[in-house]
Amino acid sequence: MSKKRVAVLISGRGSNMTALIEAAKAKDYPAEIVLVVSNVPDATGLTHAREAAIATAVIDHRSFRGDRAAFERALDDELRNFRIEIVCLAGFMRLLTAWFIGRWSGRILNIHPALLPEFKGLHTHRRALEAGVKQHGATVHFVVEATDAGPVISQQSVPVLQGDTEETLAARVLEIEHRIYPEALRLVAEGRAKLATPQPEIKNPRV
Ligand code: GRF
Repeated sequence: MSKKRVAVLISGRGSNMTALIEAAKAKDYPAEIVLVVSNVPDATGLTHAREAAIATAVIDHRSFRGDRAAFERALDDELRNFRIEIVCLAGFMRLLTAWFIGRWSGRILNIHPALLPEFKGLHTHRRALEAGVKQHGATVHFVVEATDAGPVISQQSVPVLQGDTEETLAARVLEIEHRIYPEALRLVAEGRAKLATPQPEIKNPRV
């Protein structure tokens, strides 16, 4: 079976992107990372992608001056130029509209550093420590319109240890992120995990 063509969308460090690139090197892995897109021109992850000889694109949301539809249109065009089949958000710090999500529904994944549905949104490690939970973790899920709310594909917990700081906890969670994202992408690429009710495609306000 041919490998699924995958784009990874980043905004920063790109360690999950690197984990996906590494996993995809395996002969029997069902997906290949063919494109990395960043909305931040100097994202560190771009350097790693280039070192790995993967095509990169920068689509800087700031150059669209608040026109979200135009930004997403450009992003969508780039993905289609590369005949992308699956999109992996990996530390991509832009909220996507219903138009974009509908267009990629069932084929767009995200990784979130918490055990969803707990701690949606930002600063998950700080909030987990403040809440005094004993278990924290990471989740890969299908992206739906509501933020951090799509069906879970893969999830794993880590213990919260006495004396943990945001940094120590983040590092423990990151280790499992790097494990579960490649696993989840494998499940989706092989058709073993599917979004039961894909979001409908709606019209882009600009088209
Ligand atoms: C990760 O913790 C991911 O779960 C969250 O943003 C962070 C991105 O890290 N969405 P990296 O850029 O993959 O290193």
